[in-house]
Amino acid sequence: MKIGVLTISDRGSRGEYEDRSGPLIVSIIELRTPWPVTHQAIIPDEMDAIVNTLIAWADEGVNLILTSGGTGFAPRDITPEATCRVIERETPGISEALRAESLKITKHAMLSRAVAGIRGQTLIINLPGSPKAVRENLDVLLPVLPHALELLTDAPNTESQHRSI
Ligand code: MTE
Repeated sequence: MKIGVLTISDRGSRGEYEDRSGPLIVSIIELRTPWPVTHQAIIPDEMDAIVNTLIAWADEGVNLILTSGGTGFAPRDITPEATCRVIERETPGISEALRAESLKITKHAMLSRAVAGIRGQTLIINLPGSPKAVRENLDVLLPVLPHALELLTDAPNTESQHRSI
């Protein structure tokens, strides 16, 4: 199982502010799952950059790509649109669950346009940009990931992987 973490942020990619969400996702994945983060990058809110990175990582066999940022209403927030260009099958239950659980914490959760879907054997999930939102979304997502990735890759998961999350 290979995991990719993609931060999508104009200012972050220019080094104008420190990306805290990407490293946070990496540390949570490393702490709470048995899987290695093999790919990590920070790119601007540009359609071509997002689409090309998602396709390249999927081609390189990354099984789960977690994006962070660019899901809101700002004019340059286009992560969901870029993701929709790449995925072959949408997985609306994931984004519905993330929004529903997040709404219990903040009404601002309804401002996330995040989507999720499958390209080949790669699951791509949009997360919002703030570290707080990342943490809250991963709390919802992590318990379901072993079974999701098992189904996706058609590979039986070990009991220990299920128990460790
Ligand atoms: N979801 C959770 N769980 N917690 C949050 O604090 N913030 C919201 C929302 N989802 C938030 C959340 C806010 S304020 C916005 S604007 C949207 O995510 C989109 O965030 P993004 O543009 O950084 O992707």
